[in-house]
Amino acid sequence: MTIQRREFLQAIGSATLAGSLITYGSSAAAASSGVPAFGFADDRVPMNAANLCPMLSSVSDAHARYAHELDLDLSSANRRRIEAMKEAARSKIAGLLGTSADELAIVRNTSEANNVIVSGLPLAAGDEVVLWDQNHPSNSTSWDVRAARSGIEIRRFSVPTDTGSIDEVVDLFVNAVSDKTKVVSFTHISNITGFRTPVTEICAALRKRKDDVFIHVDGAQTWGAVDINLGQVDCDSFSGSAHKWFMGPREVGLLYVRERHIDDIWPLTVSIPWVVAEDPPQGARKFDAFSQRDDAALASLGDAAAFHEAMTPAGIEKQSAMIANRLRAGLLDLELPFVSTANPLFTSSVIILKAPGENAPRVVNQVFDDSGIITAPVNGFRMSPHVYNTADHVDRVLAAISKSRGLLAQG
Ligand SMILES: Cc1ncc(COP(=O)(O)O)c(C=O)c1O
Repeated sequence: MTIQRREFLQAIGSATLAGSLITYGSSAAAASSGVPAFGFADDRVPMNAANLCPMLSSVSDAHARYAHELDLDLSSANRRRIEAMKEAARSKIAGLLGTSADELAIVRNTSEANNVIVSGLPLAAGDEVVLWDQNHPSNSTSWDVRAARSGIEIRRFSVPTDTGSIDEVVDLFVNAVSDKTKVVSFTHISNITGFRTPVTEICAALRKRKDDVFIHVDGAQTWGAVDINLGQVDCDSFSGSAHKWFMGPREVGLLYVRERHIDDIWPLTVSIPWVVAEDPPQGARKFDAFSQRDDAALASLGDAAAFHEAMTPAGIEKQSAMIANRLRAGLLDLELPFVSTANPLFTSSVIILKAPGENAPRVVNQVFDDSGIITAPVNGFRMSPHVYNTADHVDRVLAAISKSRGLLAQG
């Protein structure tokens, strides 16, 4: 089903496009402190959240401050004070995601979180793992590597981007499961099409089909972008990166593991604070026992979480969707072919236009030269705006695309 501009606007309600776009660079919180919420220059505007977001200024400042405080005083007491901030961040994030702190590991990125699940789940030769074919390599190739080592069997299935209803998508997931299936692993929001899967409905239907199947959800394009409550989504594990939509410190990631599975999953890395084999760190902390880490970065995760608490995940999702919908409507006006769907059931803030492979990097470069907006050549020409983008950024990128339209695929 191809959705045209008129239906898209009807479906989302044109009021959401006209609605006020808060500029987070001058939001009330930022304005009152006189400090911009983000530090990027107006001729270097990020619109590539699917890959890397700018850190909130409050986070980069806090990171620098904590690192400085450690350099001034490496006494145990001061180190414990900074380390305690990591635990405070864990609790805040648990609150935002509707889970418990004991079910969260603070790892290094989504890739690592996915690989804990891939390598750590107890599976035997012949057990089947079902994968959505849009998964990221860390949740796809990693399974092939495990299959080569252990004889598990991998089965992949597709969801066409023009699938029209939630029921059809759910059926595609359920039909991919066989009696041998032990794991289903998929991405909530695809980085290569922007397709947003109906994760709650999928998990409920998979559970009904086979209640002991382990369900892993890659949330790299979800955490910090979308208001998700892991208490209500019946998955067993979930991964994410703080340096994407969460706008937090770099090289910090998240792995959620439902309490009943923590004991069964093997950790990738065993070090301090794990002391003896019988004495693992509490709960999902057994997956983040990496001994010495960048404690200043981990502490600054709490400052990012404070921003999300203040704006609320629902408020951030609404704002991000508003700017993405404004961009999508402008792109539909240009009548260029999309990789992404415009069906509001499945849209996200990841929007991709078709571009012949060799042209995609050229469009990215030309758009940057013309507008100062940073995009990415991923499966076409990819834009992923977030709360720091404004109506002006959208207008600038649209004008630049219009100029470069000869390099994009044509209708
Ligand atoms: C769906 C998905 N999973 C995993 C990753 C890997 O994220 P990271 O590089 O933070 O490990 C990405 C990165 O773009 C992604 O889009």
